[in-house]
Amino acid sequence: MKQQDKFSSKLGAIAVAAGSAVGLGNIWRFPYILGENGGAAFLLIYILFTIIIALPVLISEFSIGRMAGLSATAAFKKLAPGKKWYFIGLSGVLCAFVIISFYNVVAGWTLYYTYLAIVGDLQSLNEQEVTQLYQQTSSDTTTCIFWMVLIVGAIAYIVARGVQDGIEKYSKVLMPLLFLLMIVLCVRSVTLDNASEGLAFLLNPDFSKLTPTAIFAALGQAFFSLSIGMGVMITYGSYINKAQNIQRSAMSIVVIDFIVALLAGIMIFPCAFSFGISPDSGPGLVFVTLPNIFNKMTAGHIMSIAFFLLLAIAALTSSISLFEVLVSFAKAQYGIGRRKATIIASVLTVCVGIICAVSPTVFSLFDNVSANILLPLGAFFIVLFIPIVLGRKRLRKELEANGDKCKTFSLLYFLIKFIVPLAIFSLFLYCIVNWLFVN
Ligand code: TRP
Repeated sequence: MKQQDKFSSKLGAIAVAAGSAVGLGNIWRFPYILGENGGAAFLLIYILFTIIIALPVLISEFSIGRMAGLSATAAFKKLAPGKKWYFIGLSGVLCAFVIISFYNVVAGWTLYYTYLAIVGDLQSLNEQEVTQLYQQTSSDTTTCIFWMVLIVGAIAYIVARGVQDGIEKYSKVLMPLLFLLMIVLCVRSVTLDNASEGLAFLLNPDFSKLTPTAIFAALGQAFFSLSIGMGVMITYGSYINKAQNIQRSAMSIVVIDFIVALLAGIMIFPCAFSFGISPDSGPGLVFVTLPNIFNKMTAGHIMSIAFFLLLAIAALTSSISLFEVLVSFAKAQYGIGRRKATIIASVLTVCVGIICAVSPTVFSLFDNVSANILLPLGAFFIVLFIPIVLGRKRLRKELEANGDKCKTFSLLYFLIKFIVPLAIFSLFLYCIVNWLFVN
């Protein structure tokens, strides 16, 4: 069976790619990064980067994947035999490892909050108690490690048994549910006292707050949120049917991913301002904000259970797809079976996860290095691959394989060939110079 045959239904490949994209990146990372980087001006730059940089990268990854019908490393080996491009795939493995280490810690927090919600410990806390609860949680290494290990256990169980498809079936129902729940929470949040201040923070840009760091962070967040720059979307590209329109699929994923992030912002900032929580509270922002809304709504108890559970599931589906990268690599590289590869990958992720759980410094180092350095670097080489190896004609042929004419091809190719690499390169250069001479 060819890989492309795996998802015959039109929704299949897109749903899986969207399941990888939508996760903690949208609901946990986006608000806290935006909060640390000045709000609305960051949002505008983020939107700009998503359209002119991230979308072309996503289209490139999908095209490479569908053309080769293989996952990242194998795809580069097939399309550029004897060349070193497959290193992109290897750097993707490193990146998956770095991301999964802190990602599972946060996923663990969401699971722990689900537990707290179920037993009623999130109820009737005042603002200070909510903040204290998060501080206790994140500094209690035993709790962090326990819940992180549970998450890794769940992932390992699912991956070892090869039942990811089953999870995907559930998540196709559960993710829209999370989406609806977020809309309800947004409505409650914007109707709190003083909500307008939070909305203004999110939507009314103040460009004086736009620092170079903020611009760099917006680029990293755009890559992180869409799961691009590490070749995962090359694998999902290989699942896309030739009859499907790649640009349209990529665009729908970008739109879904963006809407979820925006909803997270609307859900969090009005509430944060209403309760006097600083928007630059860091990685705990979602956790110190949301329990306050649940306390102010009817059926808040049920809502809080549903929300944290669904968020944990969203995190789980993204984490599974990161974990798969490690397992497939170990299988291919060392010629071992799925079970063995899963065990090795779990042990390694738990070990590095423990370091992230224990040290906030390592946690934020991994968070920053993956999104702001590894992903943009990966994306840089992925887009270079297109003009250098594939060329204009082959890309066009791939994008038009379904019979639709690609009307915006020239613009897209221009972005891929010049704008994306130049933008990433100049941002890097800027940051290196800044770091060398300013610090
Ligand atoms: N996009 C995911 C999220 O928003 C995180 C992520 C980044 C990811 N790269 C990935 C998930 C690769 C799966 C595969 O939460």
